[in-house]
Order: sequence, then structure tokens, then C-alpha cells
Amino acid sequence: MKGMTVANKTVTITDNESGKSWTYPKMSGSTGPDVVDIRKFYADTGMFTFDPGFTSTGSCESKITYIDGDKGVLLHRGYAIEELAENCNFEEVAYLMLNGELPNEAQKDKFEHDLTYHTMLHEQVHSFYSGFRRDAHPMAVMCGAVGALSAFYHDSLDINNPEHRKIASYRLIAKIPTIAAWAFKYSIGQPFMYPRNDLGYAENFLHMMYATPCEDYQVNPILAKAMDRILILHADHEQNASTSTVRLAGSSGANPFACIAAGIASLWGPAHGGANEAVLNMLKEIGSKDKIGEFVKRAKDKNDTFRLMGFGHRVYKNYDPRARIMSRTCHEVLVELGIKDNALLDIAMELERIALEDDYFIQKKLYPNVDFYSGIIFQAMGIPVTMFTPLFALARTTGWIAQWNEMIEDPQNKIGRPRQLYTGQTVRKYVPLKKRK
Ligand code: SDX
Repeated sequence: MKGMTVANKTVTITDNESGKSWTYPKMSGSTGPDVVDIRKFYADTGMFTFDPGFTSTGSCESKITYIDGDKGVLLHRGYAIEELAENCNFEEVAYLMLNGELPNEAQKDKFEHDLTYHTMLHEQVHSFYSGFRRDAHPMAVMCGAVGALSAFYHDSLDINNPEHRKIASYRLIAKIPTIAAWAFKYSIGQPFMYPRNDLGYAENFLHMMYATPCEDYQVNPILAKAMDRILILHADHEQNASTSTVRLAGSSGANPFACIAAGIASLWGPAHGGANEAVLNMLKEIGSKDKIGEFVKRAKDKNDTFRLMGFGHRVYKNYDPRARIMSRTCHEVLVELGIKDNALLDIAMELERIALEDDYFIQKKLYPNVDFYSGIIFQAMGIPVTMFTPLFALARTTGWIAQWNEMIEDPQNKIGRPRQLYTGQTVRKYVPLKKRK
């Protein structure tokens, strides 16, 4: 039956040196590439497979997100990202990721209520922040604060207890906006704003970011809607580097707070979630449209480490569907804010036009990814560059948690322990210090 990983087909591998052959099950999912089940390969052959960067390796079975990189398709539990971004709020998508189905009215109301009443942080976490320098990168603060949560919630650390997993999941999803907003407030020396129980997820975050105790602050509903949509676009993305980090950390039985802190650390890299910050810095470095050619040339130069940030993707060999929605949202936000001309957007659009017509990018199937436009929107919304990746981490916490739960509940789950191709020194005798040259 389609949808089952039934090994009713096989693949045979032959070692031409020894003439030996081994046959392995070929399994099909509900859609997407088949997989060859090579779990017994080393026991059978005494050889490892070799796949640095896991370009051809399926690490797990999952039902949460499906990506067709050639067609530029992204589904969450079978629903197209375009439909979810258009019709849902973030809480609905979070519910979908955790439970596999969109919530009905009652389920949605209860889920939103439950999240709302977990948005506050333990007051000791409040003083935890004062250990950081004011100019610490907010991602460093988020790594620390999220990892520290395991020191506060001893009542939900038994990963084999479904109730513990549920309460820890709700706490992480509910508190991450507070943690992110407080990292921003701390960096600008303003007092922390507590979450409000009368605001939705995205609106509450923006309120904690921009309100002060001195006066009432109304979040612009258009910006709240834009933020809500941006969070949906960043919520989950199959087995990317940070999600794989969360799964690998979780496979040892580490508590969910520690696993999410590991995911935040991995996302921080400029090749991954740090790209949105790197895109804006790149656009500022380009500075004007007439400099674009020089940077495109550098991006194509094998001897230059410069890459067009926000371009290219391990899986998408077509336009990242999230980038299309981000581009549209970018224009909507700028119109709403009455920003007629935005130099960085002009440079970004011209850069996109040039790159998409350039043979190098066409040949290598390099298209704008989710990070290409997000920085421009965030900047237009008054979000500082250092908060771009924390926003990505805020949204992706929901995907990480959904994937972590799926891994824990997977009967095939076992500790992740890859092997290697060893090319170092073979065994040799110890040389006493006096005899070393
Ligand atoms: C995210 O995995 C996910 O799903 C991630 C993500 C998510 O939601 O979790 O989608 C979020 O991380 C998006 C990607 C953000 N990163 C960037 O925008 C940084 C710039 N992009 C590149 O660093 C790169 O494209 C990666 C890291 C995204 C993908 O790298 P791969 O899959 O390892 O591909 P590659 O580096 O082997 O590139 C293939 C070729 C190479 O040339 P050759 O060695 O084959 O000659 O394309 C070239 C690369 O040099 N190339 C680029 C390029 N990206 C790839 N050349 C210029 N500019 C670029 N941006």
C-alpha cells in the first residue's frame, strides 16, 4: 500500500573486486525518492558507505514535511506551504506539525489557550540574562537561555513519558518568543516586557519586542499578520542541518531543552539560518546596482570564498516556494509602511534578475531561498540585523519539537552514531620526549 515503507523491491550491490554481491530492500514512501535499506551493509560487507554532508542519505522516516526540490514544492503534513501561509495562523500550523491534522475550532482555541498560559518565563531566567554582556549576539543568549530551561523544568525531563514530552513541547513553543524578545530588549538596555494573554503568538512577540512599560503600544495588525506568515514559512523544513542536529542530540536521550539549544547553535551558521543576516550585510556591501556585476563575478569565481547569500539550496533546484511568498510579503509590508523606495530591495531584485539570467546560476540551479528577502522585510519592520536569525530560530522551534517528538516515538529510533573513512596515521610506537627531533 502506498504510504507504507514496504520492502517489496530490492537493490543488489556488487563488489567488482571480490565479485561478491549483497541484496538490500528498496523501500517506497508515500511520495518522493525510494530508499535502499542498508542498515545491514557493514555487517554484511565489512564496508561503510561514504556520504559527507549526507547528500544521498535518508536519516529517518518522517511524516511531517515533504520537499520536492526539482518542482519547488513544500508540504507540511500534506498541505502546500502556499495554502497554509494564506489561510492559517502560526498556532494552527504548529498544531498541525505536532498532531498531524489541522485543529478544529475547539482544538485551536484550547491549543492557543494552553500556549498562552506557558509564555511567561521563570523569574530566575529573568536574572539569568544579566550574566551576558549587553552586546552579546542574541543567538548566543538564546542558546544559553534555552539550554538553561532544563535547569528549571525538572518536572518534564523524562522523555519516555508522553505527558512530559507534551508539557516540555508546549513550554518551548510558548516561551521561545519571550526568550527572543528579551534577548533584544537586553541588547538595547530596555526593560523586559512580559507576554500578554490577550494577544496571539506573533502579535505577542512584536509587543514584547517594541512595547515599553511607559505607555500603551498597539501592534500594527498588518505587521502582526506579516510576522505570523513569516513564522509559518520558517516553521519546518525536513531534515535540514539544525533539525538533524536536534534529532542526533535527542537520539542519545538528551532532554528537549538541551536538544533545542543544540538546534539553535546549528541554525546560527551563515550557510543555514544565519544566511538572512548575511544577505542583508551582503546587500549593504554591494551598496548600489552598478556594483552587482562585480559581486556576481566573485560568486562564480572558484578561488573566491564569496557566495551570493540567500541563493542556492541543498534540496531546492528550483525557486524556493517560501522565497516567492517572502518576496510578496516584502512588497506588502513596504506598501503598508509607506516605504516607497527601498534601496536594498532594489538591489536585491536586480541581483535576483541578473543571477537568474546567468548561465552559472542556471547550470547549478541556484535560485533565491527563504533567506533572500526575509532580511529586507525584517529591516523594514524595524528589527535589527542581529535579531534576524533569532526570528528563524523562534519559528523553527516548532518544527524541531515536532521532529524531536516523532523521533522519540519512532520504534526504529536508536542513538545516531555515524562511522568514517579513516585516513590518519596507522599504529606506530611511542617516541619519548628526549628522542623526538
Ligand atoms: C537554509 O536545508 C535546508 O532546508 C535549509 C533551510 C531550512 O529551511 O532549514 O532551507 C534554510 O539554510 C537556506 C540556505 C541559506 N544559505 C545561504 O543562502 C548561503 C548561500 N548558499 C550556499 O552556501 C549553498 O547554496 C548552500 C549551503 C545553501 C547549499 O550548499 P550545498 O547543497 O552543499 O551545495 P554546494 O555548496 O555543493 O553548491 C553546489 C555548487 C557549488 O559549485 P561546485 O563546487 O559544484 O562547482 O553551487 C555553488 C557551489 O560553489 N554554489 C554557489 C552558491 N551556492 C552554491 N555559488 C555561489 N553562490 C551561492 N550562493
